[in-house]
Amino acid sequence: MSAEAKVDAAEQEVSRREFFRKIGIGSLGVAAAGTLSFTYRYLSPNVLYEASPIVNAGKAESYPVDSVTLDATSGIYLVHVQEGFFALNAICTHLGCLTAWKADLGVIACPCHGSRFSREGQKLAGPAPKSLPWLKTWVNDNGEVMVDRATTIPPMQYLRV
Ligand code: FES
Repeated sequence: MSAEAKVDAAEQEVSRREFFRKIGIGSLGVAAAGTLSFTYRYLSPNVLYEASPIVNAGKAESYPVDSVTLDATSGIYLVHVQEGFFALNAICTHLGCLTAWKADLGVIACPCHGSRFSREGQKLAGPAPKSLPWLKTWVNDNGEVMVDRATTIPPMQYLRV
């Protein structure tokens, strides 16, 4: 082997060594990235976020006296009577079905097993173990009726607007 050929072989050897070194560094980089990714997911809190229990029912003027308005999305009734406003949880206390206001009968009825409640949420009939709970209501600075679905109050506490 000539001296020139030996130099070429040595350069080729160096470039092959460099190639395998770069492959090794790349493999370590991929492994480190995977490890960091799994570690981050493991350490991140596994939290489910719920919607706020506060419902903005809008302007009080939009509810005529002697009206019962169901907000099916929030699962509440906003009732406006002579004494003022009150809000009821519209979820049946039996097995959790969404109830419906029957204006012709003047009752809140559950379509699942036939429980009936008065307009004030009092249980009248059926398998429901309890009346529909009254929910905390107040008026915000803009004159809108607010309802806290997470806070119950004793019945017959009307909101006067
Ligand atoms: S869920 Fe309403 S009566 Fe059963």
